[in-house]
Amino acid sequence: MCGIVGAVRAGGSRNDVIRGLKLIQYRGYDSAGLCLKEKRDLQIFKAKGVIEKLDEKVPASLATVAIGHTRWATHGQVCEKNAHPIEGGNREWAVVHNGIIENYRTMTDELSGEGVVFKTDTDTEVIAALLALNNFSDPVRNIAWAIKKLQGSYAFCAVKKEEDNVIYAARFKSPLYAFYSGDVAMIASDPVCFPKGDYFKLEDGEICKLSQEKIEFFDASGEPIEKEASPYKKINYIAGKGEFEHFMLKEIYETPDAIRRLAINFMNLDFAKLNKLKFDKVKLIGCGTAYHSCLIGASFMRSFLRVEAEALQASEFRYGSFPISRRTLAIFVSQSGETADTIAALEKAKKKGAKTICLTNVLHSSLAEEGEMVLPISAGPEIAVASTKAYSCQVAALYMLTMALKGEKHFYKSIKQVQDLSRTLKSLFINMSEFAADICQKEKVFFIGKGDDYVTALEGALKLKEISYINCNAYPAGELKHGVLALIENKTPVIVIATDEKVYDKTMNSALEAKSRGAKLYLISNKPPKACELESFEMCLSLPSSPQPLRNILAILPLQLLSYNVSVLRGIDPDKPRNLAKSVTVE
Ligand code: AGP
Repeated sequence: MCGIVGAVRAGGSRNDVIRGLKLIQYRGYDSAGLCLKEKRDLQIFKAKGVIEKLDEKVPASLATVAIGHTRWATHGQVCEKNAHPIEGGNREWAVVHNGIIENYRTMTDELSGEGVVFKTDTDTEVIAALLALNNFSDPVRNIAWAIKKLQGSYAFCAVKKEEDNVIYAARFKSPLYAFYSGDVAMIASDPVCFPKGDYFKLEDGEICKLSQEKIEFFDASGEPIEKEASPYKKINYIAGKGEFEHFMLKEIYETPDAIRRLAINFMNLDFAKLNKLKFDKVKLIGCGTAYHSCLIGASFMRSFLRVEAEALQASEFRYGSFPISRRTLAIFVSQSGETADTIAALEKAKKKGAKTICLTNVLHSSLAEEGEMVLPISAGPEIAVASTKAYSCQVAALYMLTMALKGEKHFYKSIKQVQDLSRTLKSLFINMSEFAADICQKEKVFFIGKGDDYVTALEGALKLKEISYINCNAYPAGELKHGVLALIENKTPVIVIATDEKVYDKTMNSALEAKSRGAKLYLISNKPPKACELESFEMCLSLPSSPQPLRNILAILPLQLLSYNVSVLRGIDPDKPRNLAKSVTVE
């Protein structure tokens, strides 16, 4: 999603902003832009595509003030016109924005009636136009006046042509952080952009003014407020790709180490706090891949705690009517900790009195800030849009959490199991190129499984579709004959996941029914194939032995490798699939 960086530095802030924009590329973007404010002039540069193109366009500069932006298009096409900074008035203000102004159509109509001419297709232009509409002596008043008119979510920063060496910023439901040292004042969507040191987190409705001399904060009406800095937290800095061609492959290979680190970090679990949680229902909430880990987590809780547990997509939970009480334990899972729907779901659950636990990979994220109890996923920075090692860590974390809720003895046993798993995983880095070559020309692929294997099927299908653009769907094996078989044609690939002895034969029966209708079968199971299976399947992959609850983590790894290989064979950049962003900070 969009990213914001602004800097005020005597001697030139251009490079601070470009460097920051490069560090928040992981959020996903399709164009970028930067405004240098030199004396009373706003110089705006924009480029479609990668930051490097913007970097080439922006000249070396001594301008004290610069604001920059990476845009992930929501309103209007990907083009330079719609890239930020967006100008307001007669080039009097320039604005960069992350979020969605939900009432922008009404505001555009109203402002057009007052003579404002809109030049872009963005919702952001409403902010720029509102800022330019009045000429209050103190520009903080312009910001306070403008934000009263806005509905939706925003983090924005703005510069005014007539104001020397100042950046204004405001936030509502989109992350924004500020930093000040004697040398530089900065504002950004992620503190990863700042030099080492304490920083400030803007809260909803707050306004910030950054200058060379100081940093000031105001409430939504423009009245000054005091804010305490958040102490510097060790931030996982983004490393390069190393010997790997893509981040995705590197991240899959990092899974065993991440799992080992997770087990170590979980040893610090606050048992006293955990034991105080009294609940009779569990809701596990997340989006996309994180939702899939919630499905497995719910299954762990039902099986090991014998408690009513269900997984919900945050976007559904947000607006649906789900009974929540003080006896509900709501667990939120998010790699980034910035997913707008997951944060809103957390707020809703807290309001309804639920006890909450947040599992996230980013300990300085909004989710982590708002969670009552926060547990680390410990996957390390994940840059590729497709979540891989974070998924495996989420599943392992939910397993250890379930066992911790069961009791200390069970918890320590689970830690040991997860540590062993970290070693076992290494044997799964196998060559998937032949399998990928078989799949890469297909128009559709089916994934089937029963119980937890169905969740692996869901996650395998999501991974393959998002980075190969092949239509992939997952079904519970037993559902095929209730409709899906109609889609099976000659040589349609069906990937069968069967790691649970209890339902192994049932899964096989469903697979063979698909085969009778022409399907090409591929098997991922926990035991060596029988002779008859070897005949029926194009490929059989047997997983190394591991406790049943953790087999999902083993089974997903070859599917992640398969997706990666198919993506590359189809000439797609697996790290940045079309239309998707790593961090979904808007609804
Ligand atoms: C997975 O590969 C995704 N790109 C996506 O589904 C992701 O898991 C989802 O957007 C949730 O993100 P989060 O974990 O950062 O909240």
